[in-house]
Amino acid sequence: MTRRDMIKLSSIVALSSVTASAYDEKLVVNKIEMKPKDPKNLTKGEQKHTPQISVGEKDKAGYTLVEVTVGQGDIIHPSTDEHWIYEISLLADGKTIDTVKLEPTISRGYLGTRVKLDGVKELSAIAKCNLHGTWTSSHALKIEAKK
Ligand SMILES: [Fe+2]
Repeated sequence: MTRRDMIKLSSIVALSSVTASAYDEKLVVNKIEMKPKDPKNLTKGEQKHTPQISVGEKDKAGYTLVEVTVGQGDIIHPSTDEHWIYEISLLADGKTIDTVKLEPTISRGYLGTRVKLDGVKELSAIAKCNLHGTWTSSHALKIEAKK
């Protein structure tokens, strides 16, 4: 291998590591599963981390808009270089159907997708904060009666 080939190869390796993730994995310091002390009376810190699942309208193809925002009410989780939501997953009856990986500052804790909900009884969302751990919430769906 010539010196020129070596330089080209090292450039490709450097570029591929940049596209994998813009943030330093060492900033993810907490992966503990967290639970609110009283699920019916969340503290502000618990509201900030508990994913909120919203179910929208079904489109003509039968897919329903499902959105997950991290934070509840008017409390939105921050997204800074030191503190952000780095991943959100959406599950239908316990099966993962979508996952987003998020970068600090440029994106915040949000996932939006369209899902065929026929027969699905429960949606769950898992949100991961780099400092405050992994938070889960669930949303029971009404089963439509067949006509
Ligand atoms: Fe946090």
